[in-house]
Amino acid sequence: MNIENATPLLRVEKLNKSYAKGIGNRHRTQILRDVSFELRRGQTLGLVGESGSGKSTTAACVMGLTDADSGLIEFDGVNLTTLSKPEMRRMRRRIQMVFQDPNGSLDPRFTVADLVEEPLIVHGVKDPAERSRRVSEVLDRVGISVKQAERYPFAFSGGQRQRIAIARALVLNPDLVVLDEPVSALDVSIQAQVLNLLSELQDELGLTYLFIVHDLAVARLMSHHIAVMNAGEIVEAGPSADVFENTTHPYTRALLDAVPGAHRRSAQQRTAQQGTTAALAAAGMADALEGK
Ligand SMILES: Nc1ncnc2c1ncn2[C@@H]1O[C@H](COP(=O)(O)OP(=O)(O)OP(=O)(O)O)[C@@H](O)[C@H]1O
Ligand SMILES: [Mg+2]
Repeated sequence: MNIENATPLLRVEKLNKSYAKGIGNRHRTQILRDVSFELRRGQTLGLVGESGSGKSTTAACVMGLTDADSGLIEFDGVNLTTLSKPEMRRMRRRIQMVFQDPNGSLDPRFTVADLVEEPLIVHGVKDPAERSRRVSEVLDRVGISVKQAERYPFAFSGGQRQRIAIARALVLNPDLVVLDEPVSALDVSIQAQVLNLLSELQDELGLTYLFIVHDLAVARLMSHHIAVMNAGEIVEAGPSADVFENTTHPYTRALLDAVPGAHRRSAQQRTAQQGTTAALAAAGMADALEGK
């Protein structure tokens, strides 16, 4: 089947979301404005845009963590916005999320094996042997040994903790993984390893990623398509290479110009970017950054 022509796994159409300006205040702040995009099975859509542009709010709506005011969120042909709570819960098995900070999603009181097993229990996998088999398999995939899994999260480095969070997200064999800045909190030398892992997992398991990221080098490296958000709107979208190489859109241009290499960058940005680029290069991904 030609993937380009396949029906999208996720289709978001004219999504709107607002918040009340305060308790008892009838005025509302519009956060998302007619957000529309499509994501094909096995592909990655990079959602980029400056802080506060609405990327995480979009993710929260897709995950059913917050209700949109209006719009369509169609996952594998089903409109999620019309599902009842139990129906959404069943669907959530197929849509998982990885957050920026693994510490927030890994309860320090449980061992890693327990943390990775928990989603299986929550979603009703009753056979302990089956659960144990799936936990070992997924930990192996992310590079954590079963022996290590008897330890508690504090015994792991940041990169390892993010691997564990990824294992927790994958243990239910989801179709779609929403990744909200999954490497931003990691040391630059570790970022490339985790990005490599995510790419490998996508290839092996046919995963579809909605990848929220502010680092444009990472966005370009990881994404088949890019959607650029500004103040709650998608202002530009298209195949990654087109957006990065041929954009004429002023906001996208400004975002790209703010990337190290342009005259406006700060010393801090420059160091961070060089770090990422060096780490990616070390992992043999430099060609991708060059657009080869
Ligand atoms: N629960 C909420 N109540 C009120 N306003 C909110 C709420 N959640 C988010 N916002 C506002 O919505 C806007 C978009 O926030 P969002 O977290 O989606 O941005 P983002 O693009 O993910 O930014 P960042 O890159 O900093 O993570 C922000 O102005 C934020 O203050
Ligand atoms: Mg965010």
